[in-house]
Amino acid sequence: AAAEKGGFDSFMEKEIHDQPDAVAQTLLGRSDTAGNLVLDELRIDESILRSVDKIVVLACGTSAYAGQVAKYAIEHWCRIPTEVELSHEFRYRDPIVNEKTLVVAISQSGETMDTLMAVRYAREQGAKVVAICNTNGSTIPRESDAVLYTHAGPEIAVASTKAFLAQITAAYLLGLYLAQLRGNKYRDEIAAVMDDLAEIPAKIQAILDDAEKIKALGTDMANAKSVLFLGRHVGFPVAMEGALKLKELAYIHAEGFAAGELKHGPIALIEEGQPVVVVMPSPHGRDSLHAKVVSNVQEIRARGAVTIVIAEEGDTSAEAYSEHVFYVPVSPALLAPLLTTVPLQIFALALAGAKGYDVDQPRNLAKSVTVE
Ligand code: G6P
Repeated sequence: AAAEKGGFDSFMEKEIHDQPDAVAQTLLGRSDTAGNLVLDELRIDESILRSVDKIVVLACGTSAYAGQVAKYAIEHWCRIPTEVELSHEFRYRDPIVNEKTLVVAISQSGETMDTLMAVRYAREQGAKVVAICNTNGSTIPRESDAVLYTHAGPEIAVASTKAFLAQITAAYLLGLYLAQLRGNKYRDEIAAVMDDLAEIPAKIQAILDDAEKIKALGTDMANAKSVLFLGRHVGFPVAMEGALKLKELAYIHAEGFAAGELKHGPIALIEEGQPVVVVMPSPHGRDSLHAKVVSNVQEIRARGAVTIVIAEEGDTSAEAYSEHVFYVPVSPALLAPLLTTVPLQIFALALAGAKGYDVDQPRNLAKSVTVE
């Protein structure tokens, strides 16, 4: 078993370290010699893909947070209205789905019953379904019209890590591919994003190589009763994923909020000593978002929060208001989740480890939930 874990103490730790490879493998072989993005597996008629007027992303758990990141990217690049819904909510609300709807079902295992039932329902309504899946030949891809495989390799730890980054990567590819097909983006722009993506594995590696400080913080915080996470734009799903990892592994109350929502409620939770992890938006992303989150950090700090900030290298704007700042390499704003997620995984792993919990097999959870 020690060998299977690649010398790490747990599968989860190994899988966190597999992430540069998971992203690189998912990106492999996606461009032809002329510089076009190719998704060979996506065997849905191009005319159908061109006529899609709505995308619905369906998933559960961590995969649903990958779906939320996908929404930002797909709408930005393709200008196709995109919704994200939890699979188990979808078919119970009489959703508007038809032949012009493209459903993207994201599932690491390909066996999640809630997502499978949603896929069946969507196809009955005439929608085309693309699965983003990490498990070859599993049920969801078999029952979908097409599949885009993530190549993260088998994920053993119950809490998802490398599959999440691979799902986000695959969703970016799908978004860029649709943009290319529909002529929303010129080839050069797509090639530029592909180049940025190609740099991500080395940047993840740099975070992994420099993880001692975030590990130490996780260990130090083993007695925290609750941890809040704030993010905005693509940092919002990252915040929710960071909170989910803590719930799953460390069994403490953790919640992710959209930073803009703070003033509408969550700020009431802030009291002396409350740890708050803030995923800082890229300083070169949407204007003013970054400044708004810096002022959120100030506000919560003034109310006694212990602020832990994940920021981009060179962005020292929150240092004056933060107990702890962790830096990730520079990337385009939309791609940042592939980096900012990693310190949050390491934090949750260290915190749960310090509590002595089994990080690979958390209580009450299953790797794949095959009942509705
Ligand atoms: C379970 C796992 C989660 C996972 C979710 C969705 O709840 O514990 O880690 O995110 O299922 O699984 P899927 O295989 O569909 O991505």
